[in-house]
Amino acid sequence: MKILFIGDVVGAPGRKMIDMYLPKLKRKYQPLVTIVNGENAAHGRGITGKIVKGIFEAGAQAITLGNHAWDNKEIFEIIDTTPQLVRPANFPEGTPGSGSAILKMNQLEVGIINLQGRTFLPPLDCPFEKAEELIRDMRKRTPIIFVDFHAEATSEKQAMGWFLDGKVTAVVGTHTHVQTADQRILPEGTAYLTDVGMTGPYDGILGMDREAVIKKFVTSLPVRFEVSSGREQLSGVIIECDPATGKAKSIKTILINDDHPFFE
Ligand SMILES: [Fe+2]
Ligand SMILES: [Fe+2]
Repeated sequence: MKILFIGDVVGAPGRKMIDMYLPKLKRKYQPLVTIVNGENAAHGRGITGKIVKGIFEAGAQAITLGNHAWDNKEIFEIIDTTPQLVRPANFPEGTPGSGSAILKMNQLEVGIINLQGRTFLPPLDCPFEKAEELIRDMRKRTPIIFVDFHAEATSEKQAMGWFLDGKVTAVVGTHTHVQTADQRILPEGTAYLTDVGMTGPYDGILGMDREAVIKKFVTSLPVRFEVSSGREQLSGVIIECDPATGKAKSIKTILINDDHPFFE
């Protein structure tokens, strides 16, 4: 049983890659569940109802978010009525939406948890405590649990991977927008990857127009970032697990751009 996950979709270039490649990736890998991180899908900031619909129509069953979840106010119109749209679970009590979801696919239930790191990011409730609490309940229903840990620091992501080893199918990181090459199965059967990488502009800086980002570094003056144009890329990961135990059997990164062409 396979889970396909696509990293941070950035603006129109990212959505174009989803429309173009998600059907092909699904044909190639035959995942039972497809999940997309959509925190940057609307012009690099947040997500809208129309974009959520588009990502589901392209073939995803769930969308995770992150620190940009609330950047587009349209999300508040849909998040409480769209259980497959999952925001970080460790926001304060009473935050709209939910930090986890259980999908029913064929006869299997697949748990999805989104958490946000606290290192170099705004303060939130403890993601480790929240993870334990959610997993305790989720495991009463299913051993297949996918965790998107949206965090900045590699150390915090590695800590989460080891903390949850044997308790979930996969812990993969998002947010830093550059795919890492440390995919592995931890000793107790949890698939781990520090960052899946970003789906959007290939020639920008983390998806944003590079001239503006360079200007910011060079001048230290405030600059408005816009989504970069030009060539695109897609970053993802495919995880295979034993549906009976939830333990991961393999984890493979997916990277599509002009330097890493896609093969059917
Ligand atoms: Fe992002
Ligand atoms: Fe982020």
